[in-house]
Amino acid sequence: MSDLAGHVVLVTGGSRGIGRAIALELGAAGATVAVHYRSRAADAAEVVRRIVEQGSEARSFSANVANRAEAAAMVRAAGEWKGRLDGVVTSAGIYHGPALEEVGAEDWEEMFRTDVEGTFRTVQAARPFLDRSDRAAVVTVSSVLGSHAAVGGAPYQMAKAAIEQMTRALALELAPRIRVNSVAPGFIRTDINRTGHEDPAFHALVARSTPLKRWGDPEEVAPSVRFLLSREADWVTGTILGIDGGIALR
Ligand SMILES: NC(=O)c1ccc[n+]([C@@H]2O[C@H](COP(=O)([O-])OP(=O)(O)OC[C@H]3O[C@@H](n4cnc5c(N)ncnc54)[C@H](OP(=O)(O)O)[C@@H]3O)[C@@H](O)[C@H]2O)c1
Repeated sequence: MSDLAGHVVLVTGGSRGIGRAIALELGAAGATVAVHYRSRAADAAEVVRRIVEQGSEARSFSANVANRAEAAAMVRAAGEWKGRLDGVVTSAGIYHGPALEEVGAEDWEEMFRTDVEGTFRTVQAARPFLDRSDRAAVVTVSSVLGSHAAVGGAPYQMAKAAIEQMTRALALELAPRIRVNSVAPGFIRTDINRTGHEDPAFHALVARSTPLKRWGDPEEVAPSVRFLLSREADWVTGTILGIDGGIALR
């Protein structure tokens, strides 16, 4: 029996991509999963259905995390569902990759409100519910681009760097009761980069540049998140775990 059995975990962005794989992984490990989504209710409902089919509990909760009040209300609803949260995973996020001269006010605002403030407000609103757990943990989602530069999409890279420092700052502030860690995926095939992985030239470029010679899949990120939430990681906090086929070595 997994030590996450019966744990109540909120996964933001659980309707698609990396968050979806994490929600399914945790459900399979026996966790009760609050599956958050923004607008794709049918996708979230499908994730809930699959978790319930595996014998765990799940329910979907919606909010635009770029809206402070909506994010806080969603987290409260998820926390009140079972009266506590033992884990929070913040996978909701967007990607824009414009060049410097093309970054408009809206790109900037949306990126920071969704990725940075959305992550921060989610953890902030979850804190009272995490305090009710005797083994609480948070996992944020950064990117290899949080610490390695690429041409284009500077606001995304800055947002991920902010999430990494948020992870360290909150790990210190919330110790010893709540552990806070992050995963930093490399190139993972999801909707967020569909135009990239469906472009044969870009697909090949990423595979060539990755020491393990291929793109990753969301299911290859999820087990590390399960580990960071589990008892096996009881003495791990403030770390940024790269899951990137070695591309950060470049
Ligand atoms: N894929 C990669 O290569 C990669 C690499 C490094 C890091 N990451 C990070 O991993 C995280 C997940 O990305 P992904 O690849 O899984 O992307 P994805 O497949 O596009 O999924 C994005 C998820 O975030 C939700 N979301 C987006 N904007 C939101 C908002 N304003 N409010 C609430 N929810 C919102 C979406 O909800 P709906 O389904 O309802 O729209 C969806 O569940 C992101 O933080 C991303 O930066 C991805």
